[in-house]
This record gives sequence, structure tokens and C-alpha cells, in this order.
Amino acid sequence: MTPSATLILILTLTSCYSILRYHVFGDVPWAQLPLYVLNKAISWSAVTLLALAYLRWNKPAARHLGVLGLFLSFAHILMSFSLLSPAYYAKFYSGPQLTASAGAALLAGVGAVVILALPGIATVPGVRTELGDVRWIRWQRAGYWTLALTAAHCAFMGWQGWLTPAKWQGGLPPITLLGTLTALVPLLLKFSARPERPLPASAATPGRSSNKSAGK
Ligand code: HEM
Repeated sequence: MTPSATLILILTLTSCYSILRYHVFGDVPWAQLPLYVLNKAISWSAVTLLALAYLRWNKPAARHLGVLGLFLSFAHILMSFSLLSPAYYAKFYSGPQLTASAGAALLAGVGAVVILALPGIATVPGVRTELGDVRWIRWQRAGYWTLALTAAHCAFMGWQGWLTPAKWQGGLPPITLLGTLTALVPLLLKFSARPERPLPASAATPGRSSNKSAGK
């Protein structure tokens, strides 16, 4: 499947899930679909694309999937900042101020996207030659921190709701839980796998093609 088809499929599935959970089984008014509810689908799609990129089940597509995940992350951030207020996210606030767990969640989100800039820049043609293989691979691998911070971002935001399945709309798990699990899959697979062999010293030579595990 091409990266664009993967993007469309994932956005369709996450949008259907969000609509079912929040409009059909929940009581969120349909007027909130364009920004509030689709933001949930877009953020979950962003982490899914990044997870697929780091799972590397389709190596040639991994770079494109990662870049699409980066773009959707930006869309999610813009949408979130335009919504961020007690009117939309009452549970994030104590009076006019953010609670500690909401602050921690947002800090983790900011950390996730700042670090995501490294693998994002590493995909630009010519950057590998500039950085040299060793640093280029480190920048690619920084995406694992993005996945870990995204898991923390979702967990700080939603863990309380995970503990009360009886209250899940339509019995559907919260997207914070699904987003956390999505982010954790590549991390668990990476750390349960055999340790990677160290890079040969010659890989540090700028412009030289590196070992097979480059980027992961
Ligand atoms: C500056 C950085 C970020 C900010 C300000 C931010 C903000 C938010 C906010 C306000 C929510 C709550 C949405 C809701 O409940 O409707 C949220 C949820 C979420 N965010 Fe972020 N986010 C950031 C970065 C990221 C990144 C980089 C990712 C993934 C790559 C991500 C993935 C998610 C996911 C999966 C959810 C759960 C959606 C839900 O349950 O509704 N976020 N974020």
C-alpha cells in the first residue's frame, strides 16, 4: 500500500472511531466534529503513522509515513491550541489554570514534537552527507523518544478514564489509551529485539552508505 493510501485508510478508520465514540455513543454535539472531534482522529493518526514508520514493516515507505506523521502532528498542535480552554477541556483545568497532570501532558507533547524535528530534518536530501552516518542514524532514532513522550502525553491526559471501562461510550476505549498503546508497540518491539550491532567506525564518514539498520 502506498503511503498516501495508508494515510487515507488510517484517517478514515480513526475518524469513524471518533465519530462513533463521541457523537453516536457519546453526547458531543455534531457542531464539534470539524475541530474538536477530528482533532482526536488526526492526533491518533499522527501517532499511528509514526509508529508504522518505526515498525518499518514497509521499509521504502517508512520515510514518507514518518513525514506524514510529522505533518499530522503539526495539524494536531494547531487544532489543539485553538481549542485549549476550560470550555473544551474542563478536566485539564483547576479554575483558570492547568492542573499538574495537564501541564505534564502538554510538556510531554511539546517534547515529543521538538524531538520529532530531528528525524524530520534527517529526511531532507543532503542532510545525511552533512551529518555523517553515525549522527544521521542518531537523529533518526530520536523518533523513539517522540513515541515514548507521546505515550506519556496521552497517559497523563487520560489515565483516569482508562480505569473506568463501564463509563466508556459504547464500550469503546478512550483514544488516549489507544494512542498510548500505538506509541508503545514499536518501542516494545525494539527493546524486546536482539541488541543491534554497534556501527562500524567507518560509518562515521560523511556520505558513506551505512548499515542495514540505519534509522532504527
Ligand atoms: C505542542 C505539542 C502538543 C500539544 C499542545 C498537544 C495537545 C493535545 C491536546 C489538547 C489533547 C487533548 C485532545 C482531546 O482530548 O480532545 C491531545 C491529545 C492527544 N495528542 Fe497531543 N499535543 C501535542 C503533541 C502531540 C504529538 C506530537 C502527538 C503524536 C505524534 C500527539 C498525539 C496526541 C494523541 C494521540 C492524543 C489523544 C487524543 C484524544 O484522546 O482525544 N500530541 N494533545
